[in-house]
Amino acid sequence: MSQLTHKGRVVLVSGAGNGIGAAITERFCQAGATVALLDINEAQVKSKAEELRAKGYSVAWATANVADFDQCEQAYNALVAEVGPIDTLINNAGISPKTDGLPMPIWKMDPKEWTGVVDVNLNGAFNLARLASPSMVENKFGRIINMSSVAAKAYLPLVAAHYSATKAALIGFTRHLAGELGQYGITVNALAPGRIETPMLKMVAPEVNQEAVDNTALGRLGAPEEVAHMACYLTSDESAFITGQVVDVAGGWLMT
Ligand SMILES: NC(=O)c1ccc[n+]([C@@H]2O[C@H](COP(=O)([O-])OP(=O)(O)OC[C@H]3O[C@@H](n4cnc5c(N)ncnc54)[C@H](O)[C@@H]3O)[C@@H](O)[C@H]2O)c1
Repeated sequence: MSQLTHKGRVVLVSGAGNGIGAAITERFCQAGATVALLDINEAQVKSKAEELRAKGYSVAWATANVADFDQCEQAYNALVAEVGPIDTLINNAGISPKTDGLPMPIWKMDPKEWTGVVDVNLNGAFNLARLASPSMVENKFGRIINMSSVAAKAYLPLVAAHYSATKAALIGFTRHLAGELGQYGITVNALAPGRIETPMLKMVAPEVNQEAVDNTALGRLGAPEEVAHMACYLTSDESAFITGQVVDVAGGWLMT
């Protein structure tokens, strides 16, 4: 494990119950942070938090749909009451709906599906950044990571238009916040994972994932922990002069 330390930090991770969010949560625990886990799936987030507590880590958990500001506010306030002000926010929760394993083409997409993805992937990041930024501004320190995707930067037939559009919007959101919040000692960066082995990948046929592997320079899927290491680095003291950037963790897939 690297020497990066987050001792004394209080980190909030959305979508912390599974996949990349769960790996990020554990990585921050290993780095000495207190971690607040937030997820829509109560059974999952509770079980992850209990697993981490059993390992001796300092965690708290809450449920909320990130798309709903009131739910976020309630969960955020409960978490802060338990662990103190959040100095590091990881906007990780995201969805990529498929129908029978396939992305819905624009000419058939129900407008409710479009809005649902915008609400979770983009508005969810706004909701939590809106809640976490006042204390970061007040304390003149903060770290925010938004989970984008390589799908933000190139056409990928394995996702739908809502997914690419929201992940691209998160890059604009990241750059804007980096500009706006830099004067308060807050850095804001985005991660753009390639094909990472999480439950999200099981929504498509194995051939679809194999095609991604075939087009990835390193010839394999990524592990959630590999994204987690970069989230940890980009929020560390060592990366204090890096802001407004999008970092691919994609094994050389697309190389945009
Ligand atoms: N897996 C990949 O290949 C990949 C690639 C690029 C980007 N990403 C992005 O990384 C992030 C995590 O992806 P993953 O593969 O771990 O996904 P996942 O589906 O395995 O896990 C997502 C987690 O987010 C939670 N979640 C979903 N909707 C939520 C909501 N409305 N409110 C709160 N929590 C919610 C889920 O319960 C789950 O615990 C997403 O933003 C995704 O778009 C993933």
